[in-house]
Amino acid sequence: MYEPREDSLMLAEQVKKYAKGVVLDIGTGSGIQAMTAAKLKKVVKVYAVDIDKEAVDYCKNNINDKKVVFLKSDLFKIFRVDKRFSNLKFDTIIFNPPYLPDDPKLKDLALDGGKEGYELICRFLNEAEKFLKPNTKILMVFSSLTGKEKLEKYLLKKRFRLIELNKQRIFFEELYVYLIDK
Ligand SMILES: C[S@@+](CC[C@H](N)C(=O)[O-])C[C@H]1O[C@@H](n2cnc3c(N)ncnc32)[C@H](O)[C@@H]1O
Repeated sequence: MYEPREDSLMLAEQVKKYAKGVVLDIGTGSGIQAMTAAKLKKVVKVYAVDIDKEAVDYCKNNINDKKVVFLKSDLFKIFRVDKRFSNLKFDTIIFNPPYLPDDPKLKDLALDGGKEGYELICRFLNEAEKFLKPNTKILMVFSSLTGKEKLEKYLLKKRFRLIELNKQRIFFEELYVYLIDK
């Protein structure tokens, strides 16, 4: 399970400012973003998903907040296939994604973002469309280590708007928190 790091803390700061309404936290890991959102009065409900069963079990066993539901899911899959969630859309979507190029020698669900590093993010943005309201805000972490220009091009092609909320240099990498909307 991904212990909160600098990227987690940077994102949580923006969650405090922007999260509201019905929130989805994708790749919840330790549950840090879900819990940050749940503490806010302007947030009514938090769905927190992770593909990693261990992370979901950890959150279920250690976090008890009536506003938050933890579910195992590959990105948005559970909201497409489970009838309990039909027609559900989100006001805020939070994603601290795995954004590094896959390391063939060491598989790591929390870090591997695809061959180039941004493939999972592109899949996320594609799948997200169905769950957006007109004013939905996406809060997402990204890194200079992964094709920034390619991601920006992709967002433009999909008619998303991108605002850089924060950036921080950490050793050899620059981390960004983006606000993405339509
Ligand atoms: C960088 S960690 C972020 C954890 C936490 N949200 C935070 O801010 O500290 C990425 C998380 O995404 C999860 N993940 C990876 N691929 C996923 C997928 N396809 N669907 C859902 N979660 C995924 C990993 O298991 C991991 O918990």
